[in-house]
Amino acid sequence: MKNLNHEKLLIIDFGSQVTQLIARRLRELNIYSEIHPFQKISNDFLKEMDPKAIILSGGPRSVTDKDAPLPPKSIFNMNIPILGICYGQQVLMHMLGGKVKKSFKTSEFGRTKLQKTSTSLDLLRGCFRKKHEDVWMSHGDFVCKIPEEFKVYGQSDNAPYAVIADVNRRIYGVQFHPEVHHTPMGKKLLENFSKISGFKYDWTVESFRDKAISEIKTRVGENKVICGLSGGVDSSVTALLIHKAIGNKLTCIFVDHGLLREGEAESVIKMFKDNFKIKLIHLKEDKLFLKALEGVSDPEKKRKIIGNLFIEVFEKKAKEIKDVTFLAQGTLYPDVIESVSPTGGPSAKIKSHHNVGGLPKKMKLKLFEPLRELFKDEVRILGKEIGLPKEFVSRHPFPGPGLAIRCVGEINQEKVDLLRKVDSVFIDQIRKHGLYDEIWQAFAALLPAKSVGVMGDQRTYNYSCALRAVTSVDGMTADYYPFSHNFLGETSARIVNEVKGINRVTYDITSKPPGTIEWE
Ligand code: XMP
Repeated sequence: MKNLNHEKLLIIDFGSQVTQLIARRLRELNIYSEIHPFQKISNDFLKEMDPKAIILSGGPRSVTDKDAPLPPKSIFNMNIPILGICYGQQVLMHMLGGKVKKSFKTSEFGRTKLQKTSTSLDLLRGCFRKKHEDVWMSHGDFVCKIPEEFKVYGQSDNAPYAVIADVNRRIYGVQFHPEVHHTPMGKKLLENFSKISGFKYDWTVESFRDKAISEIKTRVGENKVICGLSGGVDSSVTALLIHKAIGNKLTCIFVDHGLLREGEAESVIKMFKDNFKIKLIHLKEDKLFLKALEGVSDPEKKRKIIGNLFIEVFEKKAKEIKDVTFLAQGTLYPDVIESVSPTGGPSAKIKSHHNVGGLPKKMKLKLFEPLRELFKDEVRILGKEIGLPKEFVSRHPFPGPGLAIRCVGEINQEKVDLLRKVDSVFIDQIRKHGLYDEIWQAFAALLPAKSVGVMGDQRTYNYSCALRAVTSVDGMTADYYPFSHNFLGETSARIVNEVKGINRVTYDITSKPPGTIEWE
C-alpha cells in the first residue's frame, strides 16, 4: 500500500459474494481500488491509506443484529464521498440516524424494476433513459426511514429508499448491486461516483508497468532475486517484469517434474533462456518424481507428494545460489484479498492445490510479489506490453501437479507418455479449428481402465481416454464446450490412429459443479 502513488478508492468488505466485482468495475474505469475486510479498518489504517473515496460493500449480516459489522465512525469525518451498496447502504442508515427493518415479506432477490423518484442526482446522471431501470437486488432487510439530510431518488416495489443521498456531504446509498452485470446502469453509476470523487483515472497497465519496474529496481538494489518459473502466465510475466528491472540479478528456477505437456519444457527454455537471455536453471527431475509416485493412486496423496518434492528440489537449488535475498512469486490480487467468510468458517476443501505458493513458508527469503495488485486479465495485458508472445500470454491454465492428476489412479512412464501424446493431438485439433481462445481450458485424461477394441481385424486391449474442454470465467464454475460432432469424430479418429495404445475416446460433458475441471 505504501509504495503506490495512485489515487485510491477503499472498498470496505462486509462479506458479499460479489465484492470483488466492485474492484473489477473500477479497474475498467482506470481507478485503483483496494478491498479490505471491515475488521481491519482503524483510524490509523484510514490515515495511512488516505483514500479518495470509500465504498461499503454488501454483506450477509443484518445491521439490526447486536454485533453487526460496522466501519469506524471516523469515515464520516474524512470529508470524502462514500457509497453504500446493499448492506453498505443499511450500514449508512444505521449509523447516521435512519432505520432498517428486518422483513421476510419485503425481500427482493434477482432482477427488480427501479423507478426514479426525484429529478436529478449526480450519481444517476445518464441513467433512466427509460422510465425504469433493471437492477439486481439481493436483500432481506430494507431501509424504512432516512435521516433528514438525505433525500430519496429511486425506489422499487419493496425498497422505498432504493437510492438515497446526502448530496452536501456526498454520501450515497443504493439498495441494489451496481457492480453486477445484471444491473446495466451499474457501471454508469460507479463512473458517476468516481466523477463526484474527482478521480483522475490514473490506473492503467502501462502506468503500472513503469511504476513496477522502477519500484523493483529500488527495492532490490544490489540484492539478488530467485523466481520459480513454470511457463504459466503468472510466473512468466513475473519473471520477465523483474528481468526488465534488474537483468542478471534475477535467476529463475524451472523445476521440470516430467509431468508437463508435449514440448512445454523446451518452449520455456527457448523463450526465457535463449530469447530473453534470463538466467535459467532447468532442473530435470522426471525420474525422481515418478519414483516418488510409484504405486500411489490416491489423488490427494499424489498432490502432496508432488508439492513436497517440488519444494524440496527448489529449495535445495535455491540454497546453492549465493546471496539471494528475495523470492519472487506470481501471486495475483484475487489470491491476496482477505475474504470475509459469511459463515465465519473456512469453505470446504475439495482439492489441495499445489503451486509455487507453498514455497515461502519454508524458506527464509523475503517474499516479492510484483503482480499482487493485478487481476488475471491485467496480467495478460501486461505480459503483452512487456513482449511476452501470445503463446504464453493466452495459454490455458495448467495445474501444478501436471499430468499426474490427469492420469487417473497409479501412474508410470508409459501412461504419462501416452497421455502426453493424446493431449497433444487434442490441443492440435483445437488450434487447427481456431477454437483455442474460445475455450478456457482443454486437456485429456487417461482412464485407468483398458477396454477391448478391434483394429485392422485384430483384437486390441488398450487404454481409454477422456477429453475435457470447458468454458469458464475463473475456474470456480465451468461448463463443457459444445464441440460439433464432426470435430469430436475427427479428433477421436486422429487419437486412435496416431497414439498407439489408445483404442477408445470419450468426451466429458459434465459441468462444474457437480464435476470438477480436473479428473483428480
Ligand atoms: P478443479 O479441478 O478444482 O480445477 O475444478 C480448477 C482450476 O484449478 C486448476 N488446478 C490446479 N492448479 N495446482 C494448480 O496450480 C493444482 O493442484 C490444481 N488443481 C487444479 C485446474 O487446472 C483448473 O484450472
